Amino acid sequence: MARETITKVVVPVAGMGTRLLPATKSQPKEMLPVGRRPVVQYVVEELEEAGLKQILFITGRKKSAIEDHFDPDPELVSTLAAGGGYALLEELRYTETDARFFYTRQSVPKGLGDAVGHGREFVGDEHFVVALGDSIIKSPDGSSLLKIMIKAHLEHGAACTVAVERVAPDEVYRYGIVKPAAGQEDQENFDLEDVVEKPRPDTAPSNLAIAARYVFSPAIFEAIQRTAPDRQGELQLTDSIRLLIQLGHKVRAVCLRPGEQRYDIGNFESYFKAFIDFALADEKYGYLVRQYLKRKAREI
Ligand code: UTP
Repeated sequence: MARETITKVVVPVAGMGTRLLPATKSQPKEMLPVGRRPVVQYVVEELEEAGLKQILFITGRKKSAIEDHFDPDPELVSTLAAGGGYALLEELRYTETDARFFYTRQSVPKGLGDAVGHGREFVGDEHFVVALGDSIIKSPDGSSLLKIMIKAHLEHGAACTVAVERVAPDEVYRYGIVKPAAGQEDQENFDLEDVVEKPRPDTAPSNLAIAARYVFSPAIFEAIQRTAPDRQGELQLTDSIRLLIQLGHKVRAVCLRPGEQRYDIGNFESYFKAFIDFALADEKYGYLVRQYLKRKAREI
C-alpha cells in the first residue's frame, strides 16, 4: 500500500475557536490575518510547496469564508483589471492554482480526532497528510518540512509521523507531548513509545510537542473509531495516535529544524506574536513596523 508519493491532505478548520472570542464570533479563526494574508492561505501555500494538490477542508458552521477565499472571483478580477489595478490583481494570483479543494462538514465539533475521521472516504487506502488550519509553519528559506516528513514516513513504513517542536517545560500542558523511544531522544527523527495529550509538567514524558502537521496511513481511521471520547466528549487525535502505538504500529516524529517555527493562532498571545513576526518580516512594510516598534519599545 505504501506509495511513492502522497498527494492528499486533510485540513481541519471546524473548531469553534472559543479562545479567540469575540474575534471568532462570526468568522473562522483560520481567516484571521497574520501580516497580509489569512492564516489558512499560508497553510495552503505550504501544502502546495510540498506537492499536496488534493486538499479536503473539514469545515463547519460559520466557515464559508474559507471556501470563498480559495474560489476564483471573476467579477473582482474584471473590476480590478478595468480600473488598472494590476498590483492588486497580483494579490489574487493564489486562486490560480492547480490544487483542487474539497469540503466536507463536521456539523458538531467533537474534537480533532473526529474531524480527521471525516476524511476517511476522501483518503481511501492512501497515506495522507493532516495540517491544522490554524497553525503556520515558517520554514527557513521556504523549504518544506512536510516534504521531509513524507519522505521519512514512507522510508520507515510508518503508520504515523508527527512534527514536533521543543516547548518550555511549563507550557507542555497546552500540547500533545511525545515520548521518544529509549536511546533516540537526541535524534532529529525518531520512533515514539507514547504520546500524551496536555500532560502536567511533572508527569510529561518530554518537552517535545506535536506541531500541527501529521502524516498518516489509513490505519488511523480504525484507531479513531476505537478511541474513547475524553471528559469533554471530544475525540482527541493524540489518543488515537497513542492507540496506534499500543496496537504495534510504527509511529515516528520529525523535529522542526533550527530556524523553523510553528505559529499556533489558537490563542491571543501566540496570535499577537505571529502577527508581529510576520509584519516585521513584510517586504514592503517591515521597515516601517520596525521603526514604529523601536519607538514604542522606548516608551514602555
Ligand atoms: P483547537 O484544538 O485549537 O480547537 O483546534 P478549537 O475548538 O478550534 O478552539 P477553542 O479551543 O474553542 O479555542 C485545532 C484545529 O482543529 C480544528 C480547528 O478548526 C483548528 O484548525 N478542529 C478542532 C476541528 O476541525 N474540529 C474540532 O472538533 C476541533
